[in-house]
Amino acid sequence: MHVPFYRHDLGQFELDAIAKVFAQPILTTGDVVAEFESRFAGLIELRHAVAVNSCTGALQIALTALGVGPGDEVITTPMTFIATATAIIQAGARPVFVDVEIDTGNIDAAKVVAALTPRTKAIVPVHLYGQMCDMRALRAVADSADLKIVEDCAHCVEGARDGIRPGQLSDAACYSFFATKNLTCGEGGAIGFNDERLVADLKLLRLHGMDKTASDRHREGYQHWDMVRFGWKYNMSNIEAAILLAQFGRFDAKLAARQRLADRYDTGLSGVPGIVVPAVRPNSTHARHLFPVWVDDRDQVMAALRADGIETVVNYRPIHLTSYLGQTLGYRAGDFPNAEWIGARTMSLPFYPAMDLAAVDYVCGQLAMSADAKDGRAKWGGGPSS
Ligand SMILES: Cc1ncc(COP(=O)(O)O)c(C=O)c1O
Repeated sequence: MHVPFYRHDLGQFELDAIAKVFAQPILTTGDVVAEFESRFAGLIELRHAVAVNSCTGALQIALTALGVGPGDEVITTPMTFIATATAIIQAGARPVFVDVEIDTGNIDAAKVVAALTPRTKAIVPVHLYGQMCDMRALRAVADSADLKIVEDCAHCVEGARDGIRPGQLSDAACYSFFATKNLTCGEGGAIGFNDERLVADLKLLRLHGMDKTASDRHREGYQHWDMVRFGWKYNMSNIEAAILLAQFGRFDAKLAARQRLADRYDTGLSGVPGIVVPAVRPNSTHARHLFPVWVDDRDQVMAALRADGIETVVNYRPIHLTSYLGQTLGYRAGDFPNAEWIGARTMSLPFYPAMDLAAVDYVCGQLAMSADAKDGRAKWGGGPSS
């Protein structure tokens, strides 16, 4: 059996939506983007959304709009994709890493206080795999030191915890619509927030700081425009917005399908020696973006699965150990033991809504056979030690 890691489910709905955009004169940012922003804000239960071309850009301009810049430190997690840190650097600030909870991989709010300095300006928590961090605890720390919070929700469009959703206890929540994300247009992103004062600034920051757009010119006829502040080229096009809007109708069904797959994995892997499944906190709606497991000898296990036709990937090896971030920020192995423990063991199993349960059973079976083949030895370790 061949089990791919991921398959998108875009098809005729999205093609029809693109065709409608092609029948209109504006391909770039226009009415379809505005409609997406309004409906996406409803979906994430925030007052506003501004669409951009990536989550990386979203994080960067959200930080900039909130006044974070050169000389500032921003606390975040090393257990994430590099974009979380590069966005902070792009905003002119310095990422400061804090270790993660050993059983979830999310930033440990209890450890954030020790990393505060007079230069700390913001926290960027990452809702890893789709499970929200402890936002109430992070909010309390932020309040005690007058910090902004910008949430990295690249994995977490659908998530909720303790009755709150991303953006409700923070200044902004940033989303990714990259090719493998729960909602995708190939490449895209958005910032969700409640503070109306951010709307105009984020729209300037996403498009060169220009006070008129191509769509304005089409509507009003040519008018001279001004560059009123520095901005980037991060706008989303009507084509991408149409692809995203076409998926809204099957959004809930896809989350339900992901949850069914996760439940099947949980059942199939329970009792398989040496396999640790990350914990899910009570009162959480897990967005189920990825289904990782943590095993010793991860690279050998991945190779064995590959030989069985099963594709897996790694999300993530801790980013303070990448050559560039380690050297430029001055981190080394041993600095964040929990992130390093997870990073040495994590592998993401095949996981996408159209995957069938028989494929999940096959993956679980192959993992169980490999564990058995170790002849009863505790080859894959026992689990987190602290
Ligand atoms: C946790 C996390 N943050 C940020 C990003 C960056 O998203 P984008 O590719 O939309 O810039 C990703 C992308 O994979 C991610 O997984």
